[in-house]
Amino acid sequence: MARSYKISHEAHVIPADLPVPGVGKLPVNAMVLMGKEPMILDTLAIVHRDYFLEEVFAIVEPKDVRWLFLSHEDRDHSGSIVQIMERCPNAKLVTNFLGLGKLHEEFDFDPRRIHILNDGGRLDIGDRTVAAIRPPLFDSSATTGIWDPKSEIYYGADCFGVVGAQIPEYTDEMSASDFEDGFFFMNRANHIWFEHVKAEALAEGAEKIKKLGAKMLVSGHGPVERKNVDKMCDMIKRIADMPAIELPDNDAYVAMLDESVPA
Ligand SMILES: [Fe+2]
Ligand SMILES: [Fe+2]
Repeated sequence: MARSYKISHEAHVIPADLPVPGVGKLPVNAMVLMGKEPMILDTLAIVHRDYFLEEVFAIVEPKDVRWLFLSHEDRDHSGSIVQIMERCPNAKLVTNFLGLGKLHEEFDFDPRRIHILNDGGRLDIGDRTVAAIRPPLFDSSATTGIWDPKSEIYYGADCFGVVGAQIPEYTDEMSASDFEDGFFFMNRANHIWFEHVKAEALAEGAEKIKKLGAKMLVSGHGPVERKNVDKMCDMIKRIADMPAIELPDNDAYVAMLDESVPA
């Protein structure tokens, strides 16, 4: 499995993936933002737990972790939140009010170790103030991303992802066609409601991210964009004019299995 990589002097990406039949892989990323008060952003899926804990604590000492930001409750992001909270006694779990409600379905955290950060809210983490900013596309009402103005990195949760046969560390390491195909598949399939939204509303969401002036954009589900965040945002706008995506039915699924999985 891929190992973590450093995208700036203080930001690390911990990459993993999940299978997508007939397509290849869905990348799944978590991040660590080092600084005066280190922050972990998401925790990969349950199936990644051993790998994630090994990688994350190779980057940061458990006692130094001050913040665990959870972009949303989906299991590909919350797979090790209990383990992080248990092993990092000085950490608070950062979620929003809706997210807290959803966490109650499964987890029993000390309420004093929860920090509520709603969309648009700010959080002082010692040497910078990060902001919760919802990405233009998302699959949980509890979703927010994080903008770090110091490292000029935006973490976009489920949005801006890419699926594909092979996923490199950076988007510019993919061919233009593989990148576009994987981007438009992921961003339509995971956010099927896009077809019910006015193009202006989607454009507004994309512009909000563009205006941050981010140097890098880290998706929870794709390679890191390090060259042209504006282009990523403009690609989100193009989705408004696209048809709904057609997903494989059972016949197609069985045909894929016959091709790829020995009986
Ligand atoms: Fe999600
Ligand atoms: Fe996700």
